[in-house]
Amino acid sequence: MDLYAIANEDNLLKRTIEFCDKYAHADNWAASFLYICCPEIIFEKAMNVTYHKLQPHQTQQYRAIRLESLREFPDNFGSTYEDESNKPALGYEIYIEQQPDDRFIVGAFDGETLIGICGFFGDNTKKNMHKGTIIQMYVKPMYAGKGIGLQLLRATIDEAFKIPRIEQLILGVIANNHAAVKTYERAGFKEFGLHKNYFKDGNVYFDQRFMILYRADIAIM
Ligand SMILES: CC(C)(COP(=O)(O)OP(=O)(O)OC[C@H]1O[C@@H](n2cnc3c(N)ncnc32)[C@H](O)[C@@H]1OP(=O)(O)O)[C@@H](O)C(=O)NCCC(=O)NCCS
Repeated sequence: MDLYAIANEDNLLKRTIEFCDKYAHADNWAASFLYICCPEIIFEKAMNVTYHKLQPHQTQQYRAIRLESLREFPDNFGSTYEDESNKPALGYEIYIEQQPDDRFIVGAFDGETLIGICGFFGDNTKKNMHKGTIIQMYVKPMYAGKGIGLQLLRATIDEAFKIPRIEQLILGVIANNHAAVKTYERAGFKEFGLHKNYFKDGNVYFDQRFMILYRADIAIM
């Protein structure tokens, strides 16, 4: 069987063989099988992607990637690049500096480079202290579609539920942002409402889906 001939017909197989050539032995079919079934795991290992809460010395890296997300995907967020870039410090720059328990950004890192962010905002008013919001989710385009967004989201969910008072996580997502909706659903979020014309930019309206994940649901997943 000429694997390279078949590979030319099949992009997935081609990528598998390229992977085996680079990271395993060409005859290592266990590695090939893993790559076919869970390419994101192999990709992460190959790229050494790690996830952790941003620390004060990473504030400027955060600012840069957050502004990039607003500039590159203006339709996907409620904030605008114009408004945010004019601020001397973004709201979460201050939280990263001060490190409160219930307001943080988890970063995805390729080595030392920040390639994705996902934020958490814990409500601290008396009747809402059991709730928190997932915000600012972004993975740099050259890293998108490789499962990093899902791992980043899971790391953020884990950090949020380490706070004993948090029982439920809520988020809003532009209704036709299928990549994001898919990622949230994979992490267990369920839609509980669709707000028509939630955002308005000039004459263009955007519908927003609202989704929720209960702590109790994590236990049974
Ligand atoms: C939404 C987002 C964070 C998802 O992160 P990600 O790392 O791409 O997530 P995943 O790898 O788990 O991919 C999720 C889905 O995105 C789609 N996708 C997005 N970009 C892709 C790309 N460049 N290539 C292939 N698929 C892509 C795929 O359909 C994938 O679904 P699939 O596995 O069934 O093919 C990322 O696409 C992003 O930053 N988008 C722009 C900002 C944004 O919309 N943020 C959300 C605000 S609520």
